[in-house]
Amino acid sequence: MKTRPIRIVGAALALGLTVTGLAACGDNGSDAGSSGATGGSGDSAKKIALLLPENKTARYEAFDKPLFEAAVKADCADCEVIYSNANQDAAKQQQQAEAAITQGAEVLVMSAVDGKSAVTIVQNAKAQGVPVIAYDRFIAGSDYYVSFDNKKVGELQGTGLVEALKAAGKTSGDIVMINGSPTDANAADFKAGAHSVLDSSGYTVKAEFDTPDWSPDNAQEWMESQIGAVQANLVGVYAANDGTAGGAIAALKGGGVNPLPPVTGQDAELAAIQRIISGDQALTIYKAIKPQAEDAAKNAIALANKQKPTASADKEGVPATLLDPVVVTKANIKDTIVADKFYDVADICTAEYAAKCTELGIS
Ligand code: BGC
Repeated sequence: MKTRPIRIVGAALALGLTVTGLAACGDNGSDAGSSGATGGSGDSAKKIALLLPENKTARYEAFDKPLFEAAVKADCADCEVIYSNANQDAAKQQQQAEAAITQGAEVLVMSAVDGKSAVTIVQNAKAQGVPVIAYDRFIAGSDYYVSFDNKKVGELQGTGLVEALKAAGKTSGDIVMINGSPTDANAADFKAGAHSVLDSSGYTVKAEFDTPDWSPDNAQEWMESQIGAVQANLVGVYAANDGTAGGAIAALKGGGVNPLPPVTGQDAELAAIQRIISGDQALTIYKAIKPQAEDAAKNAIALANKQKPTASADKEGVPATLLDPVVVTKANIKDTIVADKFYDVADICTAEYAAKCTELGIS
């Protein structure tokens, strides 16, 4: 069965909403047809809205969206996913949430652009009887939260950076920190987790920056602006995710910093795995998105059916599931990313990386 993204007409078009008619084929695999402009499979279909925050970070369009849609499809033949991406615009996300409810969404699964203003989105949805799952990023007052242990993400980044510095024979010197977006609740956790390690590490946090919109371009510009002031004693760069790491590395290379200091990241983006293989980036944090998307789908279906979510934890009174992040360096790409088939070896080990892949036993 193929999923069929179909554009909604009118205002929803401007908001970038799409509906995937997951119930478009029946058990026998034949097309059961679709209804109206939304392309859904009829009034009886359960509609689940997936609201993601941005598309500069590869994970959302490459992993979260397709994995969530596939998981909903697998568990609920009679469900449709209304998808929208807010492109880092909190007001747009609010409109997308309202549009999804107007389209009949029975549950919202949302990764908030702005954790604080999303509280209002949650309150409005709940006032209309629509429960909300906080996906990846916490929202106070939501009905369920599925994420990773985000403090631990920061701790792993900090510890990984210190280990890389020690391995490079650096016992002191300056670190700069390129944190995530100030409106993202996760970014504060990553930062706190990293500080809890770096502040007492013997290295000096010389300067730090909260990157607006998690934008790699903003990270690059900030790193460029700092090179003159920090270069002399710079031993390491904490970057909160792989997008900002890419920006930082581009700035360092452009500024003639050679050799590059160890740089951290997060998300196990393909470009970052290749940078780790080539030696430009020290580490990333691998968060297996499949179990996260599957857990969100399972609990969205439960909530749409007026059942309670299944949770093993609690965050500020919200039932939660927190998955385990894993640090990835050259040493364990094979046992993590490759073993999990997160990417095909052929995609990682392109001609440019083939020799290093062989050295690392990635085949
Ligand atoms: C996510 C990261 C992502 C970042 C930028 C965070 O909330 O947990 O995986 O890199 O947002 O979108």
